[in-house]
Formats: sequence, C-alpha cells, structure tokens
Amino acid sequence: MQRIAIVDPSDASRDSLRSLLLGIDTVWLEAECARYEYFHDVIQQSVPDLVIISLDADENKALNLVSQLAAEYPRLPIITISRNAQALLQSLQRGAKSFLSHPIDFDNLYQSIRKAIPGNDSGLVQPGRPSGPNAMVISILGSRGGVGCTTIACNLAAAIAADPVHQVALVDLDLSMGDADIVLETTGGDNISIADLARNIERLDMNFIRRAMVKHESGVSILRHPLEMSEVGSVHDAHIERIINLLRISYTYLIIDLSKAFLPTDIMAMRMSDVILLVGQLELSSLRNVVRMLHTLGNEENLGEKIRLVMNRVGSDVSEDGISLKKAEEVVGRPIFWQIPNDAKAVIGSRVAGVPLLKHSPRSRVNQSLQGLADTLIGKTPATTTTTSSRKSGVKWFFGSKETE
Ligand SMILES: Nc1ncnc2c1ncn2[C@@H]1O[C@H](COP(=O)(O)OP(=O)(O)OP(=O)(O)O)[C@@H](O)[C@H]1O
Ligand SMILES: [Mg+2]
Repeated sequence: MQRIAIVDPSDASRDSLRSLLLGIDTVWLEAECARYEYFHDVIQQSVPDLVIISLDADENKALNLVSQLAAEYPRLPIITISRNAQALLQSLQRGAKSFLSHPIDFDNLYQSIRKAIPGNDSGLVQPGRPSGPNAMVISILGSRGGVGCTTIACNLAAAIAADPVHQVALVDLDLSMGDADIVLETTGGDNISIADLARNIERLDMNFIRRAMVKHESGVSILRHPLEMSEVGSVHDAHIERIINLLRISYTYLIIDLSKAFLPTDIMAMRMSDVILLVGQLELSSLRNVVRMLHTLGNEENLGEKIRLVMNRVGSDVSEDGISLKKAEEVVGRPIFWQIPNDAKAVIGSRVAGVPLLKHSPRSRVNQSLQGLADTLIGKTPATTTTTSSRKSGVKWFFGSKETE
C-alpha cells in the first residue's frame, strides 16, 4: 500500500484528484492539504511514500515547496500537476520526479505513481482491510428526545468493533447535547472535538483526524461533540461532508448519532449514509413524528429508501397505551426493521459504568438484540423485514415469541 499526500488549494481539482486516487487499490490517501504553507508540517508529522503537488493555484509558492521538500526529503518522490508546461519543467529542475498535465487521466496517474515507487508495500492498511471510501455509514435518527438513539449508536458501534477486523468510528453529531462520550466513557486524548476539526477544515488531514478520535476500550474511536456550546454554530454541513469523507477512508464502519433538530449537518450526514436507522417507540408522539419524518425525508432523492425503522424499549410502560407493533406498521406504512426490548436495569447499569452492554450485560436480551441488529446491518445475518400484516406463520422478530398484536 502506497501512502500518498496531496496539496492543492483548489477544491475542485483536489476533489477530482482524490476521486482518481481512491480508485487505485494500492494507494492510501494519507493526507490532503488545501494550503501550500501547511504542507511541510503535514509531511513532517508523517512522511508518506509519495507526494503530489498541484502547481496552478500559486506557482511560486508551489515551486518553492517542491524545492524545500526535495532538499529535506531527497528520497521522497514528488509528482507535480499543472496546466502550464513551463511550470512543470521548472518543477523537474527543482527536484520533482515526474509531472502530469491537466486534465489528469487515470491511466497516466496510475503509471506515474507506479513508476515513482515501484514495488512499494508499506502496509499501513491492515491486512484484510479494504482501502478507499468504502466505510459503511450508519446514521441514527430519533423521532423525539430520549428515544434511545445514543444507546443504540454506542452499542451498535461496540458490537461491530468487537470483531478486530472492523475499524469503527462513532461521530457524535448531537452537537449541543451529545453524550456518546459518557455512554462509552472516554478518558485522555487530545481534547479535540468536531468543532476543532471544523475550525481547521482547510488543513484537515488524516493525522489531524486521528488525533481527534478518542479510543474507547471497546475498540470504538469516538469523535466528540463540541466541548463549548458556543462552538456549535461553527460546525457546518460542508465541514461534515469533508470529515465524513476522511473518516470513510480510515475506518470500515462509521456510526453517526444525529441531533434531533434536523440541522443541515444532520441532513448532510444522512445524505452520506448507507443506512438511516429511524428510532421510535410505541407511543403516539414518537409514531406521529416517524410519519412526519418519513414524509419529509421521502421527498429528498435517495434518502427515503435508506431508512429502516427501529422500535426501541418494546414491552415498556410507554408501549402499554394500546399500540402494537402491527398497528405501528399500519400507521407509518412501513415494515419495522428491528425491535429492541426494554431493559432499564441493563441499559442504565452499562451507562453508569461507561461500557457497552456487551461488556456489562452480555446475556441480556437488549444486548442480544443490538448484537443481532449489528450482525444484520453488516451482513453477517440476513435481514428479515417482513411486515406483520403480510405474515402467515409469524413474523421473524428477533424475539419471535412475543405476541405483537
Ligand atoms: N432498550 C432500552 N431499555 C431501557 N432503557 C433504555 C433503552 N434504550 C434507552 N433507554 C434509556 O432511555 C434513556 C434515553 O436514551 P438515550 O440517551 O440513548 O436516548 P437519545 O435518543 O439519545 O436521547 P437524547 O434525545 O437525549 O439524545 C436513557 O435513560 C436510557 O437508559
Ligand atoms: Mg442522545
């Protein structure tokens, strides 16, 4: 695997270069930088196998950077990109190994990289771990406050991370009230929150992101909500897009605990998700909001079909107001994908301990249900989304013995 760092102040050409690089299986995009001034620091933190410098945004600065890197890192191959043939020639004189002229063609890029570092296999990416933007992104959306999103997000993340082959990141997008770092209690780390990443978005790269991720003993890496409430407004949807794109490259699963405010940041995360778990409970206000949310999200292309309904705390007092699972499905007009039983003792106990249910109460029904949900989402066990109304011989609920009508 070849670790590559790129610098290009132009968002458009950097995006297209990134897309091309992500198409090359043997390449690991180690760092992306939007400022020539910061690139030297980026390289210093972790020297990649190759750098690509786009010259066009500021030829002088870019060529000086080529000279500086070539002098300091004589063994580091530099590929330059430009529309200006003169600038490309100058870059060779200053120490670049090869160049590419715009528009960049995938085959040329591939060949240039291959020639620059033949046979290199630095093995940054662990064996068996896929490269490229292929992390599965799962967002957890609540139909009202306190419906169980953070509990589900944290325990789902921990259940997936229990297999060390998986690299799992949990993003706390409940920017003002997030508490994922309490449910999975974390200590230490550099105290970098999502707001710090947003503030430094121009120089954001893999190294910065890695420093922000706090690792919980369960194996889950957590990106925390802003520490100061005053910072909440400084996190925008464009920041989220870039952060998710970078996390997608480094992890194999991203779990996102959304806010309940339908903010642009939430919408962006949902657009970038493969699956949206819409969490409800069997009571009127939650189900009414489920209907409203399905309607709103269904109006946006590609969002509605990603939604899977999850009923939490099934069997609790709140569901004793006469609403069965079957009735709930009729009301919302969709099958319920998963049900999670109520188990206050286990859930509160694990919360207080700051550890996931699989550690605190591995044999509890609520843990087994969440484990089953994780296995189904990541394809270990096939999903069963039969509606209650269509069943002939009983719905395959996770706890099939419970009468649902
Ligand atoms: N399956 C469950 N059984 C029993 N209690 C549960 C279950 N799921 C969640 N709870 C409890 O419900 C409460 C709210 O859970 P949680 O914080 O996960 O919800 P939330 O949707 O993230 O809330 P918020 O709107 O504050 O973000 C917590 O006290 C938690 O212990
Ligand atoms: Mg929450």
